[in-house]
Amino acid sequence: MSSPVSAGQAVVWYNGRLLPETEAAISPFDHGLLTGDGVFETMIAYGASPFAFTRHYRRLERSAAVFGLNLPELETLRAACNEVLASSAIDGPARIRVTVTGGKAPLGSEKGEAGETVVVAAGPAPVQPEASEVITVPFARNEKGALAGHKTISYGENVVALAKAHAAGAREAIFGNVAGNLCEGTGSNIFIVRDGQLITPPLSSGCLPGVTRALVIELCGELGIDLKEIDTPLAALPAAESAFLTSTLREVQPISGVDGKPFADVHSATAKRLAQAFQNLAARDIDP
Ligand SMILES: Cc1ncc(COP(=O)(O)O)c(C=O)c1O
Repeated sequence: MSSPVSAGQAVVWYNGRLLPETEAAISPFDHGLLTGDGVFETMIAYGASPFAFTRHYRRLERSAAVFGLNLPELETLRAACNEVLASSAIDGPARIRVTVTGGKAPLGSEKGEAGETVVVAAGPAPVQPEASEVITVPFARNEKGALAGHKTISYGENVVALAKAHAAGAREAIFGNVAGNLCEGTGSNIFIVRDGQLITPPLSSGCLPGVTRALVIELCGELGIDLKEIDTPLAALPAAESAFLTSTLREVQPISGVDGKPFADVHSATAKRLAQAFQNLAARDIDP
């Protein structure tokens, strides 16, 4: 480390080195800052190492390939996350973010040749409520877009939609896609129970292939819960019997109501079983 870290300052891993955050001098010409040319992962650590690191790395690889970005090797990045966690002294679960951008580039959309910017940073994971109120938003996810299904740093649509949810007293905003079908939240996937059937939008809806979503789908198989990955109109959400969100930070989190209308069965038996099974999985296997 090049200089001592003062209190309140985070330690980050920046292009191969652990540094106090103020020394991670990211260029004003960074293509991530200028155009959104970049990808990221958010992981959670319950101890010294991130949960499901390999799955997060594989998704990062797929998203990076779309932009032609090179990544550090899996074990290099895992070690970087562990070093940041060890240097951060975070009480309780930590949120770890890996961000990879196109690096220094000309001032337009054309890519530069200076090499990627890679940053690993950590902070406390936000405390989650037992259930979240959501709103539906009139903005559509474009399932045919170049970046559909990829975790890119172009999160402006999510920032706007989440602010709208917060202004309405809700904690998540749910998007339909261009076809008018249920898609996902700003930072979560969604499952609904309709006519007794558990449903989640297919990846063709344009939703992110959530790591938690994939694990929950696998758990449904193990628990004998019948799940269908099928398109459903966005309008089916407020009419559902119950619903839940999945994400790295929320795990399996019931939805309490949609657009101000509460669900009768918030803590459904299905959500409870899956939430418990997910916690059991996280406790027994750090990298499932
Ligand atoms: C848009 C979007 N959808 C879904 C998810 C859930 O993905 P994961 O379970 O991998 O956290 C996220 C996570 O942040 C997200 O940003």
